Amino acid sequence: MKPYDLLKPLLFRLDAETAHGLGHRLLEAMQGTPLERVVADHYTVVDSRLRVETLGCAFPNPIGVAAGFDKNATAPAALAALGFGHVEVGGVTAEPQAGNPRPRMFRLPEDDALINRMGFNNDGADVVGERLAEADCRVPIGVNIGKSKSTPNEDAEEDYLYTFERVGAGEYFVVNVSSPNTPGLRELQQRDRLESILGTLADAGADPLLVKLSPDLTRAAVEDALGVVEDLDLDGVIATNTTTGRPPWLRGDHADETGGLSGKPIEDESTRLIRFIAERTEKPIVGVGGVTDAEGAYEKIRAGASLVQLYTGLVYEGPSIARDINRGLLERLERDGFDSIEDAVGADL
Ligand code: FNR
Repeated sequence: MKPYDLLKPLLFRLDAETAHGLGHRLLEAMQGTPLERVVADHYTVVDSRLRVETLGCAFPNPIGVAAGFDKNATAPAALAALGFGHVEVGGVTAEPQAGNPRPRMFRLPEDDALINRMGFNNDGADVVGERLAEADCRVPIGVNIGKSKSTPNEDAEEDYLYTFERVGAGEYFVVNVSSPNTPGLRELQQRDRLESILGTLADAGADPLLVKLSPDLTRAAVEDALGVVEDLDLDGVIATNTTTGRPPWLRGDHADETGGLSGKPIEDESTRLIRFIAERTEKPIVGVGGVTDAEGAYEKIRAGASLVQLYTGLVYEGPSIARDINRGLLERLERDGFDSIEDAVGADL
């Protein structure tokens, strides 16, 4: 039994967002103190076979924190100390936003899942940009950029551009047009809108630039989005965001809440989409959706993901998740005769 198994029942008595806030405040308090080093020594798996060179960065291991966990970039170094190989901060929007009324984040423990309708609550591009400029983090930081709720879709380009111009200290940039919690946002995944937004950011110097896709897109729409990525020669794709779908077998009491479903119930569909994308492009893929263990991360890597991210798994498995996955990945590399993670990327294709 790991220590988190003792803490989890207490945390799970709290409202999901309150528990997240508590965990986050602990990370912030630890960041920059001597404890950060102790924690890093405990959780970091140092092994050159885990290194991934992609998106113009050297990632010490393939397991990253997905967007939404550190929305305001207040704890990237503390998350790195938990053994993660990168941290994607945000979604950041041009305007500071309060997000939707609480409660807006729900646990479905029977399903190892969450439903959230946060609605891009964040401190806004000015504040987050300043924080990023001062961040002292040992692993690459990506910035997930969303659209302000008050900006109509017709003006989305300027909104994304404003944010990009302020968060330039990030190591990679993600256009998020796949969150289900900003009305109309996902319409920006249509080919012409996507081309215009991504083109605007690419022209402004966003590099490397990735787009994050919804698992609810039709395969034809995914192909359209990949066409834009190829036409504009962008750097990669993140698959996937949360789903508005609800598998009929969900057991959690909150299954009917409005919002995006994440965690175990989206794992297989996310991996299928990664494979679909990998079969159609050579661009790097960041795989995300339902990863809670080494086997799940390995499946996404073998399906074509160069990097893997998680959010919900951290809630259910606790702070040792990156270490446990990285150890498990090394075991699997040895078992299957791969010299490194990079050798295993796309092995199932
Ligand atoms: C998210 N996610 C998310 N994604 C994004 O691109 N921008 C964001 O701001 C957020 N915010 C957010 C908040 C909360 C509470 C959750 C649970 C999720 C989606 C996240 O990055 C990821 O794509 C999905 O959660 C699927 O991964 P997991 O959680 O199944 O590992």
